[in-house]
Amino acid sequence: MISQNGIYSVDKFIEKALYDKKIGYYSQNNPFGKKGDFITAPLISPLFSEMITVWAISYWIKLGKPNKFSFVELGPGDGTFCKTFCRVLENFPEFKKSVKIYLFEKSTKLIKIQKNLINNKKVVWIKSLNEIKDGPVLFFGNEFFDSIPIKQFEVKKFKIYEKFLQLKKGQFDKFILKKTSQNMTKKLSDLNLIKKKGIIEYPEQGLKILDHIIKKIHSLKGGILLIDYGYIEANGKDTLQSLKSHKKNIYYKNIGKADITYLVNFQLLNKYLLKQRLLLNKIVSQSFFLKKLGIIERAEILSKKISFKEKSDLYYRIERLLSGKKMGKLFKVLFASNKETKFNLGFK
Ligand SMILES: C[S@@+](CC[C@H](N)C(=O)[O-])C[C@H]1O[C@@H](n2cnc3c(N)ncnc32)[C@H](O)[C@@H]1O
Repeated sequence: MISQNGIYSVDKFIEKALYDKKIGYYSQNNPFGKKGDFITAPLISPLFSEMITVWAISYWIKLGKPNKFSFVELGPGDGTFCKTFCRVLENFPEFKKSVKIYLFEKSTKLIKIQKNLINNKKVVWIKSLNEIKDGPVLFFGNEFFDSIPIKQFEVKKFKIYEKFLQLKKGQFDKFILKKTSQNMTKKLSDLNLIKKKGIIEYPEQGLKILDHIIKKIHSLKGGILLIDYGYIEANGKDTLQSLKSHKKNIYYKNIGKADITYLVNFQLLNKYLLKQRLLLNKIVSQSFFLKKLGIIERAEILSKKISFKEKSDLYYRIERLLSGKKMGKLFKVLFASNKETKFNLGFK
């Protein structure tokens, strides 16, 4: 479709560019790591995944060690997080017995890569969240939300227009603005997204998935831990961005050959989850969260057993996760759960 001429709303364009079965970026590539286009926290250091696993186990303990516990990873990428999760489980036999691990992944190409890497009978791949039957359930997503297409609107002279991309022979030609319907204006207004000027970013598809997750949390009990890069206060800026071979790319160029992401609006997610009667902790930075969970102490223990070269590599990687100039500040952590269990490890 994208190889022909056509006009696409921003979300439809991203959907095609990332997930089209033929030309989509996630259908053709393994984008992760040095050889790919970008790197994520689980690939930077296994300590990231170890901390999250121990956090998940602590949550299970807080819930009273239920015999059946579902852990769902949303968008597992190349499977690195889950691989570490399975390794850590070996030290916690009681938890290992109770937990069932689900991977919720859309890309067939990535499912193959994950299956190769993980190779563990405890792990089940699902296409729909309806396949999760046992609760309590803990959902976890690292950089999941930022890969789900968003809609964009532009406010001009107090009127709202949806942004579209016109393509010619499969290449970007120009942007087109179309007046927004009353129905859509009401949706944006209900979510307090309307500003006097600038760009409005609306994660319609992401919120639909969140609705499904919220329903599961209400029916099975449990929660959702989300880590992503984003902001608390929207400022009317266009946050769509793209990386190709670790370098900036204009998101409508190299269609299907580069990733497209955006900054997640955490205030919106917060409000949305609160509205749906979930209990929320204050949103914290990745640095705050990982430090509270003891990542530095863990590194100190590990560094006693390794060479100087390995030690400097370990601290270089931790610095990438924690530094305010790198991932530490821009990445935020959100946890929402059903009201019966208050759990604030890592947030206080
Ligand atoms: C940026 S990657 C993050 C990968 C991984 N969590 C990490 O930290 O390395 C986004 C992941 O979400 C998956 N994804 C995006 N939209 C999805 C959807 N609607 N349903 C399931 N998986 C999706 C992508 O295929 C990819 O695995």
